[in-house]
Amino acid sequence: MNGIFITFEGGDGVGKSVQSRLLADFLKSKGIEIVLTREPGGTPVSEEIRKILLTGAAEKMDSLTEALLYLAARSAHWTQKIKPELDANRSVICDRFQDSTLVYQGICKNVNVNFLNKIFEEFTNGQLPMRTYLIDLDPRIGIPRSIARQNGEELRFEQMDISFHENVRDGFLTISSQFPERFVVIDGTLSIEEIHELIKKDIRKFI
Ligand code: TYD
Repeated sequence: MNGIFITFEGGDGVGKSVQSRLLADFLKSKGIEIVLTREPGGTPVSEEIRKILLTGAAEKMDSLTEALLYLAARSAHWTQKIKPELDANRSVICDRFQDSTLVYQGICKNVNVNFLNKIFEEFTNGQLPMRTYLIDLDPRIGIPRSIARQNGEELRFEQMDISFHENVRDGFLTISSQFPERFVVIDGTLSIEEIHELIKKDIRKFI
C-alpha cells in the first residue's frame, strides 16, 4: 500500500466536499495521481446502498440496520476501489469514512462502537487514513447551508433536531482527541481559501 489515504470528516454542511475537491486539484498540480471519492458511495453497489440510506427509505430503519448498511457500502468501497488504488500507488481522498459511522451511528445512535470497529477491521485489517481533516463548525451555521444547497432528495439527516447535530459535532471532537496524530481539526468558520491554505500547508509533510 503506497498511496496516501486522506479523509475529510465533520457534520453536515461544514464544507468537506469543497475542500476535498480543492485538495485533489492541488495534489494533481503537484503531479500526484489522486482518486477523489465519497461515502456512502464510490462504487455502483455502494451508490445503491446510498440511495437506500439517504432518500427516505431508511426512515423506519433501526440504528443497527442502518450502521450495517453503511459498513456494507464501505466494505465494497474499500475492497473494490480504495485498496486497489492505494496498492497501485495512487492517493485517495475520501469525503467521509469510518469516523462518520463511529460518530453518527455509534456515539449519536448508540450502536456499539467496538462492534462497528470489529466489522471495519474485518475488511480493512484496521488500515486507517494517514491524515483526517475534521472541519469543525457550529451546526447552526452548517445545517442551514446544507439544506440550502440540496435538491430535496437527501434531507433525512439534516432534518433531525439541532441537538442531534450538536452531538455529532461533539462526537467528532471526541474521536479526534483519541487520534491526535491522525486528525487535524480546522475551524469551519474560516473562509474556503483560508481552510485550503491550512490543508495545503499540512499535506506538504506527506508529499
Ligand atoms: P454526505 O453526503 O457527506 O452529506 P454532507 O455533504 O451534507 O455532509 O453524507 C450524507 C449523510 O450520511 C450525512 O448526514 C452523514 C451520514 N453518514 C452517516 O450517518 N454514517 C456514515 O457512516 C456516513 C459515511 C455518513
